[in-house]
Amino acid sequence: MNDTFLKACRGEKINYTPVWMMRQAGRYLPEYQEVRSKLTFLELCKTPELAAEVTIQPVDILGVDAAILFSDILIPLEAMGLILEFHEKIGPVFPDPVRDQKAVDRLIIPSPDEHLNFVLETIRILRRELEHKVPLIGFAGAPFTLATYLIEGGSSKFFFETKKMMFSNPELYSGLLEKITACTSLYLKAQAAAGAQALQIFDSWAGILAPVDFERFALPYVKRIIADLRQSTDVPIIYFANNGATLLELSKTSGADVLGLDWRVDIAKAVEHIGPDISVQGNLDPIALLLPEKELRARVAKILEGGRKARGHICNLGHGIHQFTPPAKAKIFIEAVHELSGKGS
Ligand code: CP3
Repeated sequence: MNDTFLKACRGEKINYTPVWMMRQAGRYLPEYQEVRSKLTFLELCKTPELAAEVTIQPVDILGVDAAILFSDILIPLEAMGLILEFHEKIGPVFPDPVRDQKAVDRLIIPSPDEHLNFVLETIRILRRELEHKVPLIGFAGAPFTLATYLIEGGSSKFFFETKKMMFSNPELYSGLLEKITACTSLYLKAQAAAGAQALQIFDSWAGILAPVDFERFALPYVKRIIADLRQSTDVPIIYFANNGATLLELSKTSGADVLGLDWRVDIAKAVEHIGPDISVQGNLDPIALLLPEKELRARVAKILEGGRKARGHICNLGHGIHQFTPPAKAKIFIEAVHELSGKGS
């Protein structure tokens, strides 16, 4: 198996820089669209054979160095007892937002084996199918990011309801976060036990918080999950706080092996700031894939140079690939990372 990705996570010596792309299994690939045309997104997530098939698509088509489980961060919230819908053009919707004690009390902490077995089954299939290919990354949303979806009832612009709960009813907020944290810990442990070889925690909305609020209302729960995972598994853990350039020092205290960097930060400066004792992942602007090839390669070279000073570097986009990206552009990116970092030489 190609284990450059796992080695880079742990800061071990490698011959070239591994690369994968957040949201690499998805709508920009015609092969995904073909599978997806027959069923809804949630049905696809819950059909292990097909979820495994679309997980492997970017590995075979683009030659990435890691596969990420096809699922969604919101899946375990449905298992907590909530109704989850995906609407075309709007995105995820929770028709019954969680905004009072009664709603928090109603949430269950699901047993992964019982309520999320389809995810574990997808992982088991993938480990067999990826045996001679690349490692498999499992994932979950960070408790704060998951809470925003529950409290707002979907995506949001100002996160008014979330911040209102945080600031005006911190007990209610922490009670909700405790439950999401317990659920996420069990869920990630179960993914590792089923065969996930690395785990990424997506904190997509961390960047809407002031550092003091991140430290109080988001980070403690991530720390707890990571400390808890360390009791039962040694798989590398990646923490990605999107829009988190101002949160890097705090994020480093999460206990993760790897920090994800979005594109708004200069990778060389970020590495200088957080020090050479932790690995980093990132950080090309996903839409920069549309640059002319020569300029794209120059950007990649710069990112590789910045990453070289870190303990380990996994090249990636700074956020998920945009759905209207031509796959050929993604392929140029993957090949440029390999070539410019010395693969095959
Ligand atoms: O390839 C992979 O990265 C694995 C699969 C994956 C999906 N979602 C598939 C998906 C992963 C890791 C996610 C994570 C996720 N989901 C995040 C964190 C990463 C980030 O983008 O910040 C978030 C916030 C979500 C929630 C979510 N899921 C939204 C807001 C949406 C709608 C908007 C959008 O981008 O489509 C989804 C739907 C979703 N998740 C799709 C896919 C492939 C599109 C569904 C479709 O086929 O119609």
